[in-house]
Amino acid sequence: MLDKQAKTKLLRKIPHALYICGVKNGEEVNGFTASWVNQASFEPPLVTNCVKKDSSSHAAIQASGVFALSFLELGQKELAQKFFQPQRRVGNKFEDVEFYLGETGCPIIKDSLGYIEFKVVGSVEHGDHTVFVGEAIAAGVHRDGEILDLASTGWTYGG
Ligand SMILES: Cc1cc2nc3c(=O)[nH]c(=O)nc-3n(C[C@H](O)[C@H](O)[C@H](O)COP(=O)(O)O)c2cc1C
Repeated sequence: MLDKQAKTKLLRKIPHALYICGVKNGEEVNGFTASWVNQASFEPPLVTNCVKKDSSSHAAIQASGVFALSFLELGQKELAQKFFQPQRRVGNKFEDVEFYLGETGCPIIKDSLGYIEFKVVGSVEHGDHTVFVGEAIAAGVHRDGEILDLASTGWTYGG
């Protein structure tokens, strides 16, 4: 029997960092606050990135087959807050945020610790999020610093 309260309590203990996942759909760029990101292989270097099926970013990743993770620094909660709002409601989230396009054409946040770009090499579509498996194909460090962790924000995503 699944004790839902126990499941939620324990799943919320899994530590997560916060990233801006930059995506592109044709000429258009978008991004969303991501937390369900994990390493999945040394060689080739893989991560899993779980993306909500009804988000604009999901459609973009499916269409382009690429995404870029910008690593946020502790204290950049406002940036994370901006990017968890849906594009469908707020429009262009990059309007007042400095960014550049990476090798994949996905947007990378200038004021971040660094970035890794990925090409999608697999996916699992079973629940309300798709598990995209991404292979790292480009990366760069902007500066040293401590990563923005979900626990420090007081927010929850999951459970
Ligand atoms: C703390 C936090 C963590 C989040 N983590 C994820 C995540 O890992 N995957 C995901 O698909 N959405 C995540 N979201 C939700 C997206 O940021 C949100 O659905 C966003 O509006 C999607 O943007 P889009 O519709 O413009 O693509 C998170 C939201 C918050 C507040």
